[in-house]
Amino acid sequence: MGLSKGHNFPGGFLVFFMFAVVVVARSVVGIGVNWGTQSTHPLPGGTVVKMLNDNGIQKVKLFDADSSILNALGKSGIQVMVGIPNDMLYSLANSPNAAESWVSKNLSSHVSNGVDIRYVAVGNEPFLSTYNGSFLGTTFPALQNVQSAINKASLGNRVKVTIPLNADVYTGDKPSDGDFRSDIHDLMLAIVKFLSDNGAPFTVNIYPFISLHNDPNFPVDFAFFDGNSAPINDNGRIYQNVFDANHDTLVWALQKNGYGNMTIIVGEIGWPTDGDRSATMQYAQRFNQGFMTRFNAGTGTPMRPGAMEVYLFSLIDEDHKSIQPGNFERHWGLFYFDGTPKYQLNLGTTSSNGLVPASNVRYLPQQWCVLSPSASLDDPQVAPSVSYACANGDCTSLGYSTSCGNLDARGNISYAFNSYYQINDQLQSACKFPDGLSVVTTQDPSSGDCKFRIMIQVPSTLNGGSGGNAAAVGHLKKPAGLMLFVLFLSMIL
Ligand SMILES: *[C@@H]1O[C@H](CO)[C@@H](O)[C@H](O)[C@H]1NC(C)=O
Ligand SMILES: *[C@@H]1O[C@H](CO)[C@@H](O)[C@H](O)[C@H]1NC(C)=O
Ligand SMILES: *[C@@H]1O[C@H](CO)[C@@H](O)[C@H](O)[C@H]1NC(C)=O
Ligand SMILES: *[C@@H]1O[C@H](CO)[C@@H](O)[C@H](O)[C@H]1NC(C)=O
Repeated sequence: MGLSKGHNFPGGFLVFFMFAVVVVARSVVGIGVNWGTQSTHPLPGGTVVKMLNDNGIQKVKLFDADSSILNALGKSGIQVMVGIPNDMLYSLANSPNAAESWVSKNLSSHVSNGVDIRYVAVGNEPFLSTYNGSFLGTTFPALQNVQSAINKASLGNRVKVTIPLNADVYTGDKPSDGDFRSDIHDLMLAIVKFLSDNGAPFTVNIYPFISLHNDPNFPVDFAFFDGNSAPINDNGRIYQNVFDANHDTLVWALQKNGYGNMTIIVGEIGWPTDGDRSATMQYAQRFNQGFMTRFNAGTGTPMRPGAMEVYLFSLIDEDHKSIQPGNFERHWGLFYFDGTPKYQLNLGTTSSNGLVPASNVRYLPQQWCVLSPSASLDDPQVAPSVSYACANGDCTSLGYSTSCGNLDARGNISYAFNSYYQINDQLQSACKFPDGLSVVTTQDPSSGDCKFRIMIQVPSTLNGGSGGNAAAVGHLKKPAGLMLFVLFLSMIL
């Protein structure tokens, strides 16, 4: 099994390891996925639930409490972590009544309808430094009020609260140095104690991709699970990848503060496929397959051998997410927006060797909006038209090192026009750029990896692409306190 490549572990470890595998077999319910909905054209809830079942995925994590999604999950057998967005923390922190209304409307009613809600995620990475401390004062009181409301609704035994936190809430040059960030140390301890007192888990999001994205000198192999990287030896514990090392930095931080036992959930882990030099299909496949193989082996990490609870990020691409962190932000899906698998991935959950696509997806007609063959590139309307199309469409697959990075100037313009046209449901008026620059064609302009997409039909998008929530700040990714790690690595390599 993965871990033992080239290393002789002491016998005691092996015995413990085998014991851990026995525990795994009893307790594991399989892999989870994050189901985000910041899309202009989301697949219908029922279609996604069928896709989850077809792929043997038994757990989902949601970012809010969308009732159409929760209704679709009723009696599906799928376990649910339901989310509370950061912009609700203030009111929940300041009003026990607001927390009770939330629980009544968004938890109790769905539980009564057969939705198997196991967790409520209070906030989403609220302590990210990007937020300038905006949620430092409200997150813990909101957590307490939501817990009280859950208790009052007599759901305390079946539904646990948690806070999905970015891995930058802890730091450490190596795992055994792990501790909570000094500026929020006391707050973290109060939260951890509260979670522990309520039998609730610690949820952490870990992103090796961001390490690679932020630092061109990051040792690439250390981001993956192939064991080809020069290992780190942390007092006898061998680390061959940054995920294990980061995860165990948290284990040490918990242990050092008296909570070495606490259940850890990995709330997000994954790899995007477009919009960045490191966001390639090959890397995403290598990372996710490597991770899944280890996950299914129940290997765990050096500090926590055994089964893990994990939610992959993410199920489907979301074309309406904020691209503040980077263009890759819209490309985290295992599936494209329409439920088509991107690459070969064996989750180990079904007899199928790859992902099963969504079924009965309905597309708009096979037509595209492109730059008119007679249009001149020197037309002064070209630049403003492309800017407008990209601002209101999605051009994150254009540019250096992306799937459509090899288009020529005309191809670029066509791509932008088509994106705008599709997102607006192929409205005639959405392919009427000034000076007759654009025309509709029935010839697919796609070439190689560069796909000119056809949008899917969505019942409520006649007014064009207003389905998502552009204002919501998405799930911003940060490098997880790994910079110190890189320093540490460069010292020993
Ligand atoms: C229920 O959740 C939705 C989606 O997150 C939210 O918009 C709504 O305000 C919540 N309802 C209550 C009563 O808090
Ligand atoms: C954080 O502060 C920076 C600089 O003051 C500002 O540009 C940014 O909008 C702030 N972000 C949030 C989420 O408040
Ligand atoms: C560890 O967890 C077990 C049960 O899971 C519990 O009985 C024990 O008290 C915990 N130990 C500590 C130090 O928290
Ligand atoms: C295509 O557009 C991208 C940005 O959208 C730009 O970086 C690239 O240089 C363009 N290519 C050509 C050939 O114009």
